Amino acid sequence: MSTLREQLFARKPLSLLLEEMKGDNRLRRVLGPVQLSSLGVGAIIGTGIFVLTGQAAHDKAGPALILSFVVSGIACIFAALCYAEFASMAPVAGSAYTYAYATMGELFAWIIGWDLVLEYTVTSATVSHGWSHYFQDFGSIIGLHLPHRLGFAPFDYDPSLGRFVSTGAVVDLPAILIALIITAILVKGIRESATFNTTMVAIKLAVVLLVIGLGAFYVNPENWKPFAPFGFSGVSFFGHTVFGQTDAGGHPLGMLAGAAIIFFAYIGFDSVSTHAEEARNPQRDVPIGIVTSLLLCTVLYIAVSAVLTGMVRYDRIDIDAPVSNAFAQAGLPWAQFLISLGALAGITSVLLVMMLSQPRVLLAMARDGMLPPRFFGAVHAKFRTPWKSTILTGLIVSVLAGFLPLRILAELTNIGTLLAFVIVCTSVLIMRVADPQAHRPFKAPGGLATPILGILFCLLLMFSLPVENWWRLFIWLGVGFVIYFSYSRYHSVMAKERARAEAATLPAAASRP
Ligand code: ALA
Repeated sequence: MSTLREQLFARKPLSLLLEEMKGDNRLRRVLGPVQLSSLGVGAIIGTGIFVLTGQAAHDKAGPALILSFVVSGIACIFAALCYAEFASMAPVAGSAYTYAYATMGELFAWIIGWDLVLEYTVTSATVSHGWSHYFQDFGSIIGLHLPHRLGFAPFDYDPSLGRFVSTGAVVDLPAILIALIITAILVKGIRESATFNTTMVAIKLAVVLLVIGLGAFYVNPENWKPFAPFGFSGVSFFGHTVFGQTDAGGHPLGMLAGAAIIFFAYIGFDSVSTHAEEARNPQRDVPIGIVTSLLLCTVLYIAVSAVLTGMVRYDRIDIDAPVSNAFAQAGLPWAQFLISLGALAGITSVLLVMMLSQPRVLLAMARDGMLPPRFFGAVHAKFRTPWKSTILTGLIVSVLAGFLPLRILAELTNIGTLLAFVIVCTSVLIMRVADPQAHRPFKAPGGLATPILGILFCLLLMFSLPVENWWRLFIWLGVGFVIYFSYSRYHSVMAKERARAEAATLPAAASRP
């Protein structure tokens, strides 16, 4: 009998991953490099830049937010190169989950798969919130006002008091509705979804360029002084401040603390890798999609944050719809109108890609027996989409989005995603050492330094988040372990096959004299 230890560290061979791609129950291969890059941009530019920049500049970093975007961008570029290398080696659905299965074994694969559920589902809820803020901003421009009690989560964290306070609202209704509408679109199919995404991406790129091009004329360099009112650091180790200042609740403040929040703005490039199975030439096009989309967004973000903090003094930046509001403060209502509309389109496309990615990770896990395959592995006969898990994802996202505040959701997403990046960089490192000869259609430049720096930068950002997020992450992983040890371990396809192979060899061995 194989031991528990053997099962936990059993690795799925790369050859088997590639073999599985040839089966029947596959998704359609319709995506080329432009569509993949567009899916990347579609997933990246959204609530992070249009909404969270407000909170990050106002509460955490001041104008040093510009540097926060640089630091966070660097962390993501190391991680993206590792993702790209792995995606080229194992171009199947499942993203980081699959990579971990091939390198670090079943238990780590489970951890990361479970962690990706946190990433995609909680990101989707965060983004639905951001959508709701711009929807309400847009509504107010055209004279439609949603009652306060239907437009916000019932409670929120107040950094000046250092505790949670009631918002007086009951539910964020627009956030719930948009999550349900996107779910309906996704059940219908990927080709339509990709076309819809391309249109949205074009609109939001135009809006971002408008913000940079027009906003540059309204920058007052005096607003960049003081440049770092909360300092340049902001790191704590399980509640003990290591570098920098803290707010009334003991949460880190400063440029690095800002970087840990606006890291959210970069999330999404990794979702390109979840579409490997739908890519026409995954080994070439998925790395192109990941790296192109991330680099483009990094440049745009740095420019937008410079313009925003230059247009409005950091302590007067709006925290709900900061970018459009900056143009309202500059006396440009027509620009506020266009930006709100574009942000709505942009945020919609993020939600689309995130909610498209989640069921694909679940699908990969179900195929391995880690989750019930009849539910999570079901591909719709006509639409060829993982429809049951798409609907389940949509329902969970809408509940989270309706009742939890934006900053809690964003921080939780960030810590979960940063952990996923740490595991992917570690997997690349292990693979480079353990199997240096493996075929790597794309190899991340920089040797072992790239994955190592990726791990270090991501850990730094994890320690710049408020400590509660570590506890939430541990609770989430604890729930994951319970599921693994009570279900997945006994249903794992790999474990069953190993047991079958052992059973076949035992009688032969026993009959030998
Ligand atoms: N990066 C995505 C956003 O900012 C998740 O909305």
